[in-house]
Amino acid sequence: MLEASSPAKAILFGEHAVVYGKPAIAISLDRRMNLTVFPAGEATVDGGRLSMRKHRYVKKAYGELWEGPAIAFRTRSSIPSASGLGSSAALSCSAVAAMLFLRGDLSEENIARKAFEVEYAVQGRASPTDTSCSTHGNAIMVSPLAGDDLLWTILAGENVWNVHHVDPPELKLVVGYTKKPSITPIQVEKVRNYYNRSGFARETIDDIGSLALDGMKALRSRDLVEIGELMDRNHSLLTILGVTSRELDKLRDAAGPLSYGTKLTGAGGGGSIIALTERPDEVCEAIRVRGGVPFSVSTTRKGTSVEVTDRNALDIFIKPGPGKKD
Ligand code: PMV
Repeated sequence: MLEASSPAKAILFGEHAVVYGKPAIAISLDRRMNLTVFPAGEATVDGGRLSMRKHRYVKKAYGELWEGPAIAFRTRSSIPSASGLGSSAALSCSAVAAMLFLRGDLSEENIARKAFEVEYAVQGRASPTDTSCSTHGNAIMVSPLAGDDLLWTILAGENVWNVHHVDPPELKLVVGYTKKPSITPIQVEKVRNYYNRSGFARETIDDIGSLALDGMKALRSRDLVEIGELMDRNHSLLTILGVTSRELDKLRDAAGPLSYGTKLTGAGGGGSIIALTERPDEVCEAIRVRGGVPFSVSTTRKGTSVEVTDRNALDIFIKPGPGKKD
């Protein structure tokens, strides 16, 4: 009756450092999380009763945003979960957008803010990078400084994140998924412990932030060689923070000789690498040979969208009906 859809994302530069308010750049990818919404006797996700244990993001969004008749959600996704590609952010954005639409409150900024609140509540420390990128589509730069193309500013703890629109660069990227889950809160916590006890870790976070600014310059000038070098350097800095793994490095070794640059993307530990390359087929094959799951991706402009598929069925939500929220 209503379908909300949000894209995957890849962080090109700056993951982890962005949690400490440093700059980062993320791009939206042409893989999506679609969430169909329809009226039901009780709230469910894919047929199972909505629960905090199984459906943390949808449950949180539902509890925060919805007071109307019960909703059944059905998910359809081409984003592997726990892959570092923002599947939970895309789910949060889609759930939030569907409910904001039904409340008559839909705007891009509202989706970005509410979806961030959902992620922050569920994950603990989180930056708005994933949720803002999935909401807005295109590419974004998150920065402590407000500048041109500012979309919105998000505050949490001592951090100020200014989210800027960036025209999506046309990059040929290959994702190499390790098949090992990347658990964001665990990796973020690991970095936090290191950050709290080591000046070297804090300097490394600063270095990642400066590198993201250089990355923005390289993207603007479409300098693929420079972008690739910065990706490699960003990966080395993430290695110092302890968030790479044998599985990720194996896929980097496979893709590296065929690429301008490669790095882990997202929280790390497991999840995925991205490779910037003009030889995507060969990179895919090299990743496959080393046991990874490869796929070529393109950037997309399309952020979160909501489409009404059955206007009549909407009436139960718009006018108070017999259904009841459980
Ligand atoms: O792995 P993902 O898609 O959850 O990305 C996490 C990115 C971090 O910078 C590690 C955390 C954050 O909230 O920005």
